[in-house]
Amino acid sequence: MTKIQTPNIITLLEKEHRQVEKLFAEAEKANFNQLYECFNEIYRALTLHTRTEELVFYPAMREYPRTAKYIEEAEQEHEEAKIILEEIKSLKPNDSEFKKKITELKKAVKHHVEEEENEIFKSISEYMSEQKLIELGREFRKTKAQLEDEVQAAMTT
Ligand SMILES: [Fe+2]
Ligand SMILES: [Fe+2]
Repeated sequence: MTKIQTPNIITLLEKEHRQVEKLFAEAEKANFNQLYECFNEIYRALTLHTRTEELVFYPAMREYPRTAKYIEEAEQEHEEAKIILEEIKSLKPNDSEFKKKITELKKAVKHHVEEEENEIFKSISEYMSEQKLIELGREFRKTKAQLEDEVQAAMTT
């Protein structure tokens, strides 16, 4: 029997980054009726992704000085994204600011994702064993599943 291996955390995170990029592309093409639903998807995906990273991945970065130095800036960028998400959440889709703010968020996220993929992931895979990266992948999935209900509840309030 073949055992299905959990992907390592870097593969998981990169896959989620690509999914979020797809959601932004959809939001850009969306008409007013679709826009709020697109934004909800972005809100949900980004909130779950960043919070799970903060709980599972960033603490692991703390173990090595070469990756620990990125934590502060990365957390600030998460905070910045969170602020823009809340700003958009308080707007109506027909508000002229709505699309502009989504573009602003997209730019901020793009910058952050480039930093994670080009600097942080590269660096951590030099220090961390494949086994540990897979273990973190498993933990990432578990923690994310636990957060799902909480994020869903926050969206409907
Ligand atoms: Fe991040
Ligand atoms: Fe990320």
